[in-house]
Amino acid sequence: MSLPHTGQPVAALLNARLLGLLAVQSVILLLSQAATTNTCGLPPDNSVIGMATHGDLGSDVVSIQSNSGRAASVSQFLFVCGSTFLLEGLANGVKGMAGLGRTRISLPSQFSAAFSFHRKFAICLSSSTSSNGVVLFGDSPYVFLPNVDVSNSLLYTPLILNPVSTASAYSLGDPSAEYFIGVKSIKINEKAVPINTTLLSIDSEGRGGTKISTVDRYTVMETSIYNAVTETFIKQLSKVTRVASVAPFGACFSLKNIGSTRVGPAVPAIDLVLQSNSVFWRIFGANSMVQAGIQLFSPVQTNNMCKLQLYI
Ligand SMILES: *[C@@H]1O[C@H](CO)[C@@H](O)[C@H](O)[C@H]1NC(C)=O
Repeated sequence: MSLPHTGQPVAALLNARLLGLLAVQSVILLLSQAATTNTCGLPPDNSVIGMATHGDLGSDVVSIQSNSGRAASVSQFLFVCGSTFLLEGLANGVKGMAGLGRTRISLPSQFSAAFSFHRKFAICLSSSTSSNGVVLFGDSPYVFLPNVDVSNSLLYTPLILNPVSTASAYSLGDPSAEYFIGVKSIKINEKAVPINTTLLSIDSEGRGGTKISTVDRYTVMETSIYNAVTETFIKQLSKVTRVASVAPFGACFSLKNIGSTRVGPAVPAIDLVLQSNSVFWRIFGANSMVQAGIQLFSPVQTNNMCKLQLYI
């Protein structure tokens, strides 16, 4: 067994099939033939379909690639073995879910304990089904491109604890294992979108606020916020011809009038303003627009772009 140097991140290359499955929840690995004895029970939770059931806790050796390229192993990695019907809603061929949430048995927790690094991880989800994403556990450098440490260009915002669990099964009083951030306002083209900001805070029942999740394909917004964002976006892009909407997208535009830039179609940037006006998550066209109407089995491709239900 070779361990990485202390503090070095370990990386897991994920193929596209697994990407849809990374859930920010408790660790769930559904292994059909895992051997478990003298079992403790834990509720594995499929956060894609929102279903949890009983499962048995098990442990096994897990091997993962370290930054140095060598394999690093965790000798007693904990996982939960559950029924195969919990795989419903996941991509074909997938055998389980890897939990990244704020629990003591999530991958970041177990790897940080095994390799003595901070409970940090970086995740890059590929938007393509043919190229891999990556998860890096541990401290930076986060090298996604040769000689480029992306941690140097990151902005930071505090993670907020939601005091009420958002899992499918939980005990009363459990906090949420998901990651929330404090969005204070939304701007489009630097103009504030008129929204009810009360909705941006987590209320006493755990509702509201802004969650970072890998479960939903496109960003989900409360209806009044979604309508205001769409309206403002359309107003800011009024010179571009609108075309009929394509479900599930809210507003579609003709590509003919939209230029292209290094960061995707030239459309107004959407800013999620965080703890101060100078800290914002800027969403460019590459992440806010999707090309709609591509018919896979015919050469016909429409020249229209749609604003997503927002992908962040
Ligand atoms: C804003 O949202 C909160 C929480 O849903 C609600 O109680 C309040 O009435 C809303 N305010 C306005 C002006 O709509």
